[in-house]
Amino acid sequence: MIKIAPSILSADYAALGSAVEMLDEWNADYVHLDVMDGAFVPNITFGAPMCKALRKHSNLIFDAHMMVENPAQWAAAFKDAGADIMTIHIEADRHAHRTLNYIRSLGMKAGIALNPATSPSAVEYLLDSCDMVLVMTVNPGFGGQKFIAEAADKVRKIRQMLDARGLYDVDIEVDGGVNIETAKVCRDNGANILVAGNAVFSSDDPKRTIELLRG
Ligand code: DX5
Ligand code: ZN
Repeated sequence: MIKIAPSILSADYAALGSAVEMLDEWNADYVHLDVMDGAFVPNITFGAPMCKALRKHSNLIFDAHMMVENPAQWAAAFKDAGADIMTIHIEADRHAHRTLNYIRSLGMKAGIALNPATSPSAVEYLLDSCDMVLVMTVNPGFGGQKFIAEAADKVRKIRQMLDARGLYDVDIEVDGGVNIETAKVCRDNGANILVAGNAVFSSDDPKRTIELLRG
């Protein structure tokens, strides 16, 4: 039921191929790819070419978290590069409804992400157009930050909004500061996909950590 999506943002960038290979051995479900453009967030990571290169190293689900302005321009490239899910930020796209449908039309699952300061009502009219809602529990840009508990409250509200519409198959992913303690809070509130960067990649026993995060 609960899926774990380790973020390679916290892996050794000089050895991302082998990091991704390890995720399979550690029984992770998804590979979470944090794409940052230096404009939407104050950091730069990588784009579709990295996704394509890593695709050869894993059969897990590739979960692209687009922390970029105007994300629609990259959708076709990420589809080509083997991404399975593409999540855009509501704060970064004036036409999120159109972009979500475009992502789906390309054959990827579409996710909508909310920053900690964004109200759940901002995504209310998008719920029919997405496969996943990503609730940020840190301000995006960096790994290793502290979990913002107020942001996690949104998970419960969004789960209620989905249930009220009969959208039982839409996933809720949480991202930022997820560790063994905060993972429980997220699961209890109704999240079913947990992103974890530092908790997994700084662990002495990542396989065990993933098991504990799953609850
Ligand atoms: C933050 C990223 C997260 C982050 C998670 O901008 O979207 O995926 O890397 O890392 P931790 O689990 O270390 O907070
Ligand atoms: Zn992320």
